[in-house]
Amino acid sequence: MVQHVSDAVGAAPSYRNGLGTVMAEQTSTQSPRDRAQDSSQAVFQQAWHIYRVLVDENYLFHREAYACLHHILRAEIDRPFHFLDVACGDATASVGALEGTAIAKYSGIDLSTAALALARQTLAALDCPVTLEQADFVERLPTWSVPVDIVWVGLSLHHLQAPEKLAVMRAIRAILPRGGRFLFYDNTSPDGETRDEWMRRWDEQNPLWTAYSPEEWDVMAGHVHEADYPETVSSWRRLGHDAGFKAVEERFVAPSDLFRLFMMRP
Ligand SMILES: C[S@@+](CC[C@H](N)C(=O)[O-])C[C@H]1O[C@@H](n2cnc3c(N)ncnc32)[C@H](O)[C@@H]1O
Repeated sequence: MVQHVSDAVGAAPSYRNGLGTVMAEQTSTQSPRDRAQDSSQAVFQQAWHIYRVLVDENYLFHREAYACLHHILRAEIDRPFHFLDVACGDATASVGALEGTAIAKYSGIDLSTAALALARQTLAALDCPVTLEQADFVERLPTWSVPVDIVWVGLSLHHLQAPEKLAVMRAIRAILPRGGRFLFYDNTSPDGETRDEWMRRWDEQNPLWTAYSPEEWDVMAGHVHEADYPETVSSWRRLGHDAGFKAVEERFVAPSDLFRLFMMRP
């Protein structure tokens, strides 16, 4: 599904908001499969506040992962860059990571109407042009034609099976110039761990997530059990190389050892 963001969140097609210029891109692609209607997307479409608690409480170590992203952008990217935030959600953590960097342009893609409405407000803090698009990134990335320097995916590749992950990573590789970077933070198993074992370790977080009611835990746990497919460290590396990336680096491991941040270079 690709939907014009102004249709989705009630904004004008192009408007100035704070320091950044926010524009909605026109796309005409029709999706053969409307992923936004998948039950796996329900929590992001209908209960964004439940995901927001998890971010605010740092249950998935957003703070550390996005601090790592910030450090890389500050220390290793010394020229103005176009940042593509794939599955940007409400963009709160990305805006923090981009503060004080050489960002020259921000583009975000997401399926969730609720998240994009919040992102539109959050991104006004950036002093650069901002474009938001409501689309399925699996279908949108292969058609992406605007040059970008950095592609970031925060916790959003794990709904895909390995062949779909590879297709997305190939599309990202095709977008990036020689000096570009692909960074992502996602569900990762140590080598040898099965999906069931990763799920068991995920479930062990339950006593620590005290800000959640039992019902909210059930919503999130149901979503993860239904829709999450972690890769092992070796399989992420293999996917990166198969997608055409020459260098694959692991840059951060969450203290829970459930998530890792990788950086890949063409
Ligand atoms: C776990 S949240 C991550 C949000 C943010 N990147 C972060 O790091 O917190 C997953 C996000 O991916 C979006 N999403 C999932 N599948 C998508 C797809 N195929 N195309 C576009 N957005 C998608 C959801 O709407 C949601 O905003």
